[in-house]
Formats: sequence, structure tokens, C-alpha cells
Amino acid sequence: MTPPTTTLVEITGLRKSFGDNHVLQGIDLTVEQGEVVCVIGPSGSGKSTLLRCVNLLEYPNDGLVMVRGENIADLNNNLDEARRHIGMVFQQFNLFPHLPVLDNCTIAQMTVLRRERPEAERVARVNLERVGLGAKVTAYPAHLSGGQQQRVAIARALSMSPALMLFDEPTSALDPELVGEVLAVMRTLAEEGMTMLIVTHEMAFAREVADRVVFMDGGVIVEQGSPHEVISNPQQERTKTFLKRVLDPTNVTTA
Ligand SMILES: Nc1ncnc2c1ncn2[C@@H]1O[C@H](COP(=O)(O)OP(=O)(O)OP(=O)(O)O)[C@@H](O)[C@H]1O
Ligand SMILES: [Mg+2]
Repeated sequence: MTPPTTTLVEITGLRKSFGDNHVLQGIDLTVEQGEVVCVIGPSGSGKSTLLRCVNLLEYPNDGLVMVRGENIADLNNNLDEARRHIGMVFQQFNLFPHLPVLDNCTIAQMTVLRRERPEAERVARVNLERVGLGAKVTAYPAHLSGGQQQRVAIARALSMSPALMLFDEPTSALDPELVGEVLAVMRTLAEEGMTMLIVTHEMAFAREVADRVVFMDGGVIVEQGSPHEVISNPQQERTKTFLKRVLDPTNVTTA
């Protein structure tokens, strides 16, 4: 018997333009509760814009973005409400440099969720333990490695008790030897059942952790399916070309 699924994110006919640059040209995408969806695709294909439309960092021109059954466009006058169930982790960690790790993880809990400081600190400590940084609560971001800073950013997002985590290339600003520790944290979250929508260039990670892989190019979803279907056995020419390039970057062809 297949377990019942709940749709957490339902995107239909999403369009977004910047001037006459039609970046998203009609995206239909659903994310079920507990699902890990990895979005891959070439630079400029609209991956970040798609993610940013889900938490209203960009306002869609057309189409519908439903999160937990709510049309997020209706929440445009209450951005905190639109985002309170959605954690976002960016390529750049965006930590407050003047605040120690613990405060970085409590400030939004207190301002947005109105948690009292002791409760916010308790939640922050639990999540810093979760990402392996329980010993760093008093450190300042500048004294941490990039991998550690990104794990703080993940703990900060988790401390908001999100229903959904968005990741936009969370490892691409990291030195190669630091990528693994961040992916390991994300893998654990996936195993714990966190719903995640992840833009990534890490094909091995996507192959291993994603329930579904979505390939975007030119503002549309070209194909989607299991990692086996999309990464190992792509059907579309555009997907094949992209994967050939990312899986074997030394195979340079001049077209
Ligand atoms: N705020 C903005 N104003 C104007 N143009 C934008 C804005 N954000 C994105 N764009 C344009 O939209 C297109 C898609 O950008 P987007 O960042 O979504 O691509 P991407 O797939 O995430 O690329 P990358 O892999 O390089 O991160 C690009 O042409 C970009 O220049
Ligand atoms: Mg991007």
C-alpha cells in the first residue's frame, strides 16, 4: 500500500519576466510532503528565480504558487507570514557578522515567531547540534570555515521549524573539501523526512538523495523524474547535452 501523500507546494503556470527577459515561461511543479526534489539546469535557466518565487523574494507575473494550500500571492502584504513555514539557504550564507552563532539562530525566532529568548536559544542549540556545531555557539561567523558558516545558516533556517526547506546551490561557494560536510547535513535532513527543494550542481548528491530530479532550461521544465530516469537515462536532447557537460567538464566541444 502506498502511504498517503500531501502536496506541500503546488506551482501551476508560473511565469516571471524581468523586462522582456522571460525567465520563467510556465512552470508546473509539485512537491509532496517529505519529498526531496533537486532542480538542475544551465546557468540562467531560471532555477533561482523559481525558488525565489516560492517564498516571494520575487513576485510572480502569472500563475499560482500554493504552499500548504495557501496562495502565497495573497500573503504579499504579510511577507513574514508567507515565509514563516519556509526555510531558505543561499549560496552566500548571509549570516550577521556582528552576532555570534547562537544569536544568528535566535533573532528571527524572536522577531517573526515571537518566541521568548530562552525557548529560542533552546531551539537554536538543538539545531546547532543537529548540524554538528554544538560547540560553536559563541563563535562569530568570521572565525568559522565556509562549511561551518553554511551549516549555521542551515541551523538558523531549521530553528524556524519550517515545513519546507529551499536550498539554492548551498555548496557552490565552498572550497571542494568543505562541500561534503554540508551535503552530509542535507542528507540527514532528507532521511529525517524534511521536505526539500534544492537547486544543485552536485549530481552525485542528487542521484543519491533526490526522490525526483527536475531539469530546467530556458525557463521551462524540460523533463523530470527519478534520478535514474533524468540523470542516468535522460530522454531529451537538452538534458543529455547539459549532463554531458557537467558530468565530464573536461569534454569540451566547440559547437
Ligand atoms: N532581479 C533580477 N532582475 C533582472 N534580471 C534578473 C533578476 N534575477 C534574475 N534575472 C535574470 O533571470 C535569468 C535567470 O536567472 P536565475 O538566477 O533564475 O538563473 P539560474 O538558473 O539560477 O542561474 P545560475 O545557475 O547561474 O544561478 C537571468 O537571465 C538573470 O539575469
Ligand atoms: Mg541561480
